[in-house]
Amino acid sequence: MNIREFTKDIFYVGVNDRTTHLFEALWPLPYGVSYNSYIVAGTEKTALIDTVRIDEVHAYIDAIESVGRNARIDYLVVNHMEPDHSGSIPEIIKYYPGIKIIGNSKTIDMIKGFYHIDDPDRFLEVKDGDTISLGDHTLKFYFTPMVHWPETMMTYVEDLGVLFSGDAFGTFGALNGGITDRDMDTDIHISEMYRYYSNIVGKYGRFVGKALEKLSGLTLNYICSTHGPVWIDRINEVVKIVSDLASYKSEPGITIVYGSMYGNTAEVVESVARELTSLGIRNIRIHNASVSPMSDMITDAFRYKTLIVASATYSMRLFPAVETFMNAMETREIKDKIFAVIGNYTWAKNVVADKMKEYADRMKLEITAALTVKQSPDTEDENAAWEFARQLVNAMEVVETDK
Ligand code: FEO
Repeated sequence: MNIREFTKDIFYVGVNDRTTHLFEALWPLPYGVSYNSYIVAGTEKTALIDTVRIDEVHAYIDAIESVGRNARIDYLVVNHMEPDHSGSIPEIIKYYPGIKIIGNSKTIDMIKGFYHIDDPDRFLEVKDGDTISLGDHTLKFYFTPMVHWPETMMTYVEDLGVLFSGDAFGTFGALNGGITDRDMDTDIHISEMYRYYSNIVGKYGRFVGKALEKLSGLTLNYICSTHGPVWIDRINEVVKIVSDLASYKSEPGITIVYGSMYGNTAEVVESVARELTSLGIRNIRIHNASVSPMSDMITDAFRYKTLIVASATYSMRLFPAVETFMNAMETREIKDKIFAVIGNYTWAKNVVADKMKEYADRMKLEITAALTVKQSPDTEDENAAWEFARQLVNAMEVVETDK
């Protein structure tokens, strides 16, 4: 059985990468990642959809050849130019010299810039909404800029309800034997989708929202992303996850990110977390910013409604690891959070509070509760921690009631 043909005339020819440690040289890959590419075989023409990272090109060519139905590939559709998908374009051209590359004007510019391919006969430029016939199947192109780069588009096979969605609905995690969510357990991929979205696409929620709106009328039988399983049975679930994340809609729960040099700020955080638990909060994720991967802190801060940031004072600034985390959240334009802050100091009392206030103003976040502790917390600080936790829980209850 050719498991690659997951529905009639559509073949999976992507590859798994279980070697790379850091995606984009930044984000850990504990379960690996897949770079997905597909073949649409029509009665007259055959199209390849996207390519894979160059390191995996040999396995990729083998996968294409193993499909074996059409030795000839007529078109290469480039939905997204980030090199984890475009890297093998030059090799594909060498292997299939007559191939035409289908892309929009931005795609073509980027191919020239990245790979110095500039023969105009090589390209077939499409506009938003254009179609190209493969015989019994037709490809339709939907421009979805900034999901995740400016040139990104999606390709839809109308008669089969197949959407090649680029990075949208993508996730970390190599494919464990299967290709679709019918062939294998995909719980890891669903859980990794939060990390993938918040780390990679998180800044572009507005554009993801626009793309979802644009696609909302389409029949979706198969969502074929550039990373992770082909979605069939879990389409509603993944659309909801991405739609919620794109609109910064988060789940009940608290993320606490702290930076502590000698344990005093950490002690305040532990005390606050105990008070929150005593008030009935069950879902609390605590990260020491010096130890937790940035990837996980960003994911939890996106996923949960309440964010507490606690910082020691360091050279008249926030603690550096905390500052880096806050910059990452600013890059991703995080919004709509219940936000609370904790500062710890020895001689510069107001530094953390002032820096947090500047940040909150810039990000249009309201500081729901604030706590400042001098050096090691004492009984008075324990009482203040209780009051801080109570204020926060009240604000969380108001938000829950308003829903
Ligand atoms: Fe998987 Fe934006 O590339």
